[in-house]
Amino acid sequence: MIKLVLAIETSCDDTSVALVGHDGFVHQLQSAAQDLAHRPFGGVVPEIAGRNHSETLLPLIDQVVQTQEDGWQSINGIVVTNRPGLLGSLIVGVVTAKSLAMVKNLPLIGVNHLEGHIFAPFLKDESYAPSEQFDFPFLSLAVSGGHTTLYLVNGLGDYKVLGTTRDDAAGEAFDKFGKMLGLPFPGGVQVDRLSQNGNRAAYYFPKGLLEDGSLDFSFSGLKSSAQRLIQSISREEKQKNISDLCASFQESVAQTLVTKLRWAVEKYKIKNISITGGVSANSRVRELAEALAQEKGLTLLIPPLRYCTDNAAMIGYVGVKRMNRGERSDLKLAPSPEYNLQNDAPTDESSPT
Ligand code: KG4
Ligand code: ZN
Repeated sequence: MIKLVLAIETSCDDTSVALVGHDGFVHQLQSAAQDLAHRPFGGVVPEIAGRNHSETLLPLIDQVVQTQEDGWQSINGIVVTNRPGLLGSLIVGVVTAKSLAMVKNLPLIGVNHLEGHIFAPFLKDESYAPSEQFDFPFLSLAVSGGHTTLYLVNGLGDYKVLGTTRDDAAGEAFDKFGKMLGLPFPGGVQVDRLSQNGNRAAYYFPKGLLEDGSLDFSFSGLKSSAQRLIQSISREEKQKNISDLCASFQESVAQTLVTKLRWAVEKYKIKNISITGGVSANSRVRELAEALAQEKGLTLLIPPLRYCTDNAAMIGYVGVKRMNRGERSDLKLAPSPEYNLQNDAPTDESSPT
């Protein structure tokens, strides 16, 4: 039995390392965000992300391993995100994980980043444990700067994609809107903050794909409409009404996300829902989701922010569970842009170490 794994996450712009137990207990989670490095460009620059990972990853691993009295002796396996993500970022994690697995003679497994987000609610630590009522099957809305997907989750490895974005991710829409308003990256956080004093009904913003009953998402129409609106108003109006603009835009995104969640709950008769990814921090998304849960008697689980944004703990959770089912990856493990969770056959099930 694999008791404790070292997990590495470098799929986008957060370098993250964790130690996770077989029961989902997070013994260590240390991350280095790169927001400041990307801020001048208003978005993640892949080359900068990859370079920063290669500078921060090894010191972070050292730091995490040193917290254990027995150091490497206490670690029984290495888990790494190998898909999907920015290839230049993924490769830093994958090459490091493979080297460590070889040098330390430890079993290795590559994990799908999205599967990590799905299982984030089950992580535990000294100050968080999931509600005991929360169980399979559940609906998982993974909503961040890179993804907006609604899954029906029946168990580890058993998923149905109910809907996904046809263009931008919701976080990306928030960030682009922030950029239009001249707010610092990542704009989502600032838009949420400014919305607190704004009027949600001050401006009209369209809600994508709400008329066709689909569980897919689309934010490109909203983005174009926001662009047109911002260009049509004076700089003074923009400054004066920035809170109203933010609150109205946020309302459109939050209503869209939670309406799809409502439709999925009704269609699939599911009692448990979870929201993960950076956008789950959004105050209006939370408010609307909580109201939906109350109205329908659902158990809603939004993990703490440290497990919602990109982090290695969620990757470790999936890795340790898969390893304890006998799954392993071999040293041919490669980074991949592949999103599809259904193609997640382990790379090598025949040679458990
Ligand atoms: O999960 P995450 O850290 O990384 C990705 O996988 O993208 O999510 C980051 C995204 C960014 O787009 C950021 O603007 C958005 O989450 N975000 C928010 C809020 N906090 C973070 N969007 C809206 N409201 C927030 N409070
Ligand atoms: Zn993510």
